[in-house]
Amino acid sequence: MTNVSPTILSKLSVQLHTQPAHPLSTLRSLVESHFPAYAHLSSVSPLVTPHQNFDLLSFPPDHPGRSVTDSYYINKDLMLRTHTSAHEVDVFSRGEKTWLLTADVYRRDEIDASHYPVFHQTEGCRIVSADAAGMQEIQDDNARLEDHLRRSHILIEDVPHLSPTNPCQPAHDPKHTELIAKNLKLSLNSLILRLFGGKQAEGEPLRVRWIEATFPWTTPSFEVEVFFRGKWLEILGCGVIHQATLDNSNVPNKLGWAFGLGLERIAMVLYSIPDIRLFWSQDPRFLSQFKQGEINTFRPYSKYPTCFKDVSFWLPTDTTLHDNDFCDLVRDVAGDTVENVKIVSQLGLWG
Ligand code: DAH
Repeated sequence: MTNVSPTILSKLSVQLHTQPAHPLSTLRSLVESHFPAYAHLSSVSPLVTPHQNFDLLSFPPDHPGRSVTDSYYINKDLMLRTHTSAHEVDVFSRGEKTWLLTADVYRRDEIDASHYPVFHQTEGCRIVSADAAGMQEIQDDNARLEDHLRRSHILIEDVPHLSPTNPCQPAHDPKHTELIAKNLKLSLNSLILRLFGGKQAEGEPLRVRWIEATFPWTTPSFEVEVFFRGKWLEILGCGVIHQATLDNSNVPNKLGWAFGLGLERIAMVLYSIPDIRLFWSQDPRFLSQFKQGEINTFRPYSKYPTCFKDVSFWLPTDTTLHDNDFCDLVRDVAGDTVENVKIVSQLGLWG
């Protein structure tokens, strides 16, 4: 069976995150520019096996995400990825140690202004050798990042790197896990500062909140929320990668972290785009508002396409009709949906 509808199929080739000037493309480049030394992948096919999407990441056999009501299947052995984590094992197996992968992901969902069956994520991963040299590299990086964050106007509500409900994996040394989790948090706080910093009200710090979470392929795991325009916004999930995932990738004696960032959510608040469906618009009134590399505030426009109505009428010769009389008539009949009224031509008595 397949449950991939023609509407969904039509999205596969669009690749909004690589269309120059599109807000999702600008956001992707912004994230990439924050991790300049990482490999940047952005054209990986959305077709994956359930094995890649779920099994290799230790999803339990009865996980609801596997069901045909939640995910799109081409057939029982091939599906549309539901998250960019589906590529972790492939990319690690190819030998990449630090990489970002941005892609379209597909989930069956409700219809409203913040849900769409296709959206975009950036997966980011870093692994290092589980030895003194690897840990030194992480420690040096932590010192650099801590210094940078200390000098920035950012207020972080943290949770412990490890806790009884968010423990170290049995195969790992807790000291190593602490360093890796700290590096994950510092790297992401610094990315968040890059994306959201400098846009707060005068004198207000950027507020970031870390929360314990659970994901099948990371432990400890966290979610991150950012306080922006008066609301807490959940923007990513992350954690220390499970040993099983790295074993599946054939990278022995390594450990590291992974995160998955939801691009639409972030772009919606940064650009003030009120409806997720607008990202798919081909309307020049949407597309012409953006330039590659620039974040600007979206100017709303009518959700209906422009249309022209010519209205002609005769007047008795002994009446006068002022333009404003006609405008009031239009207002009474059509209300505020009318954006513009123009005289196209005025004919004399005999035409
Ligand atoms: N794949 C998760 C999602 O779609 C996000 C995520 C969570 C990615 C934790 C990660 C991670 O790499 O470690 O909700």
